[in-house]
Amino acid sequence: MLGHTLLGLMVATASLVDARPPPHNVHAVAGNGTVKCPVVFDGRIAKTTVATDFDSYATSKFNAEYVKGKELKWSDIIKFPDVAATPRFDNASTKPFEVTISDKSIFQTQNGFRRAGLQFQGDTNTDSPGSKGVKTLHFSLKWDAQRALNLSHEYLLVWHEAADYSANQFNFEAGTIIGQSLAKDTYKVLNRKNQQIWSTAIDKTAWQNFAITLDFNKNTLQVYYSKDDEPLKSVTSAVSNDNSGNGQYQIGILKKPTGTSDVVNSGFQSRNLNEGLTYGSLFLEDSASSCVSL
Ligand SMILES: *[C@@H]1O[C@H](CO)[C@@H](O)[C@H](O)[C@H]1NC(C)=O
Ligand SMILES: *[C@@H]1O[C@H](CO)[C@@H](O)[C@H](O)[C@H]1NC(C)=O
Ligand SMILES: *[C@@H]1O[C@H](CO)[C@@H](O)[C@H](O)[C@H]1NC(C)=O
Repeated sequence: MLGHTLLGLMVATASLVDARPPPHNVHAVAGNGTVKCPVVFDGRIAKTTVATDFDSYATSKFNAEYVKGKELKWSDIIKFPDVAATPRFDNASTKPFEVTISDKSIFQTQNGFRRAGLQFQGDTNTDSPGSKGVKTLHFSLKWDAQRALNLSHEYLLVWHEAADYSANQFNFEAGTIIGQSLAKDTYKVLNRKNQQIWSTAIDKTAWQNFAITLDFNKNTLQVYYSKDDEPLKSVTSAVSNDNSGNGQYQIGILKKPTGTSDVVNSGFQSRNLNEGLTYGSLFLEDSASSCVSL
């Protein structure tokens, strides 16, 4: 009888344990891409990473304090959605992560924006290795239908901002670019002058892999692209772009408001916001001697 009760207890305990959500992405098929150039900043995170690891410098690969709403911690922002496969440059020991925005995603007093942007640790605003020589930023994106972006708005998703905050050397965006008549359901690369130099339709099921080579010596920018586990292909030539001004990469979401000429401080944002985008295969590699991992 006692044995039976004990057994019952053990079964109950076991089923309690089993009821916990499974570790994320455990069954995801790893990507088959090989990184062949030296990695300068690695934003690929270990499969064992938990959201609270993003809250401190000791355990995060990113700046633990920026750029986010002051009431939020990174562990409130980062999610780990289940994905069937990891993108091309994630392997069996790494996993993608989702960056989300909510009504609380107000950085400092920028009431017009909703934003949450990761910066690599070590990517200092001046004199960063990321703003010298020739560097390629790799990132892969996956749409989350549960936290869909509202493409009636303009979203910055990946960019490099000059040290004096006066400009972004490039913007990788989605949605409705304010003041321009471009298709809204695309990912687009804009140059320093905010002119689109390339775009592709947003695929709501596949991983979409991107790489942007910035030549800080020759002042050019080149885009590479593929889907799922396909090798990247160059989709632009090395187009002229003003890459001067140092600064930092930012990986995450900046959602602009609608209906204002002062996007930083005012305008319309929907309430009860619950939006996000999944990022993976994130790293910056050294493309000196034209090395780009495909
Ligand atoms: C990697 O290659 C293996 C073997 O060809 C394949 O089964 C797997 O699906 C590939 N990974 C991805 C993410 O496509
Ligand atoms: C997977 O990628 C990580 C991140 O770059 C790297 O540290 C690790 O060695 C890789 N693991 C394997 C098995 O290739
Ligand atoms: C999307 O944004 C537009 C413009 O701000 C807004 O009118 C609309 O209600 C939003 N849709 C959703 C589903 O939030």
